[in-house]
Amino acid sequence: MDTLTVDLGDRSYPIYIGDKVFLDNGLLAKHIHGKQVMVVTNTTVASLYLDDLTAVLADFSVVSCVLPDGEQHKTLEVLNQVFDRLLEAKHNRTTTLIALGGGVVGDMCGFAAASYQRGVNFIQIPTTVLSQVDSSVGGKTGVNHVLGKNMIGAFYQPQAVFADISVLSSLPPRELSAGIAEIIKYGLIQDEQFLLWLESNMSALLALDPVALTYAIKRSCECKAEIVAQDEREGGIRAILNFGHTFGHAVETDQGYGNWLHGEAVAVGIVVASVLSEKLGWISMADVERVVAIIESANLPVKLPQNMTPARFLELMSVDKKVIDGQLRLVLLKKLGEAVVTSEVDWKTVVQSIEFCQQQH
Ligand code: NAD
Ligand code: GLY
Repeated sequence: MDTLTVDLGDRSYPIYIGDKVFLDNGLLAKHIHGKQVMVVTNTTVASLYLDDLTAVLADFSVVSCVLPDGEQHKTLEVLNQVFDRLLEAKHNRTTTLIALGGGVVGDMCGFAAASYQRGVNFIQIPTTVLSQVDSSVGGKTGVNHVLGKNMIGAFYQPQAVFADISVLSSLPPRELSAGIAEIIKYGLIQDEQFLLWLESNMSALLALDPVALTYAIKRSCECKAEIVAQDEREGGIRAILNFGHTFGHAVETDQGYGNWLHGEAVAVGIVVASVLSEKLGWISMADVERVVAIIESANLPVKLPQNMTPARFLELMSVDKKVIDGQLRLVLLKKLGEAVVTSEVDWKTVVQSIEFCQQQH
């Protein structure tokens, strides 16, 4: 087992990465402070792993809340089911909420933990690649609104993260690829050596090779933990973690939550942001081709939907959380392995990049 720390002073917490880490009852119990536990999960994950988790929690008083599966259910209405269940089961402020699932469950459970009785203990057991390398780490929690993704939420850190690579064997291939999009992101924004490693090891990752998978998850979590430790509430550098997300969120919102997977939308968003970086003269066309190649090698999309007009992008991107005082800020690449947040981009260049990414390239 590998253990990393997210260094946030007295709110620091460990990320455990390895085979069957969440079935270590001693380790799990160490992070539960009272007797009451509620496991928040969804219908798909419950049928696969809820019994195993409940069995290792035999010393606690455990109830579960099984939510419907899907990004389209990441809403305030569905979140209310968690509060109903907590109140019906008379859970008090010493309860621990455990998120067992992908990023949707993790974000919702985290927001429930942040707000139930003004904040209760919370543990993440992420079960998708995406949630193991990104959403379970760093404390962003929340739900979607019809007018924008992740628009309602809170920063709220977990007590611990248990990233168990064995659960990834049941993940559908499309979800595996979507998670790899966020892994590629770290190579592009922070670590060119890691990007090179990914270029050589993509087939091992897609084949769920445990050594490759453990390394990729660990390196991704190290990259994220380093940024979160510097800028927990996204006053500055943390925004680079949203590389590809401004365009990606617009695609997800326009096409209907759940139709494009989050990681797929991020993948194509990464391509647009790379094309834009090239148009500003920061990276070369050969670099853009490398970005497209690695995304394609992970079986991810590289073309934007053709039915989205630039005006529609502008409308959706104007509610992005990186917009300050009406000014659009984008995360772009200074070079492969280094990202910056910039507002030095005119809309005409953005439109050219969008149109380029709607054509063949
Ligand atoms: P998801 O939670 O919808 O999970 C994807 C699918 O895989 C679901 O159908 C789920 O039921 C299923 N699944 C989960 N684990 C499984 C397993 N082990 N075996 C078989 N099936 C399994 O999607 P996701 O990609 O994990 O997360 C996407 C969400 O994460 C989005 O809502 C996004 O906004 C959010 N996100 C949050 C952050 C953050 O910092 N909080 C960062 C990135 C993404
Ligand atoms: N996924 C972006 C962030 O956690 O800041």
